[in-house]
Amino acid sequence: MELRKWTLEDKKELAEICNAVDRRYLSDRLPNPYTEASAVWWLNMVKEKEGKTGIFRKILVDNRIIGNISVEQKEDVYRRDGEIGYFLLPERYSQGIMTEAVGQICETAFQELDIIRITGLVYAPNIASRRVLEKNGFVLEGLMKNAVTKNGDTYNLCIYGKGKE
Ligand SMILES: CC(C)(COP(=O)(O)OP(=O)(O)OC[C@H]1O[C@@H](n2cnc3c(N)ncnc32)[C@H](O)[C@@H]1OP(=O)(O)O)[C@@H](O)C(=O)NCCC(=O)NCCS
Repeated sequence: MELRKWTLEDKKELAEICNAVDRRYLSDRLPNPYTEASAVWWLNMVKEKEGKTGIFRKILVDNRIIGNISVEQKEDVYRRDGEIGYFLLPERYSQGIMTEAVGQICETAFQELDIIRITGLVYAPNIASRRVLEKNGFVLEGLMKNAVTKNGDTYNLCIYGKGKE
């Protein structure tokens, strides 16, 4: 597993993985279908923010892009907090890939961004994602009851946090 910076040349592969991802526990803001135009818009946003207010990485195995992970710095009074987000192609699940990716990006984010904590917001039934955060030292700090409605189901939202060491 390797993390690398996104480039504008990745637009086709980005669109492919975004269309293959399991959206059950992801925000509806992720365009569906995910077109190449969506990819170009996102990659330009990443280019703008990379290293300043965010760390954005593609996840590679055998030189193929299989996932995405980021830490984005929040704004206003929340500016010393970064929010982590990630997804992987389903055929690569349960090999420890995201656990390793989260460990690496947290280290980079704490080094490069002016943040003192990283927040992970996970829908309560997303056990795999909760495990990934817990294995990386994130602590369940709170629960927002019935905060998420997705595909007609309503879930609690778990608030995970990890402080800068
Ligand atoms: C969440 C996600 C990133 C996990 O990636 P991954 O590489 O499979 O995760 P890892 O293999 O590193 O670790 C998964 C852990 O969850 C456990 N797990 C997976 N599915 C589980 C389930 N249904 N019930 C209980 N535990 C489960 C695994 O056993 C492992 O824990 P362990 O090491 O203690 O055995 C991946 O499932 C994904 O991309 N999901 C869709 C997008 C998404 O939900 N993103 C996160 C939004 S907050």
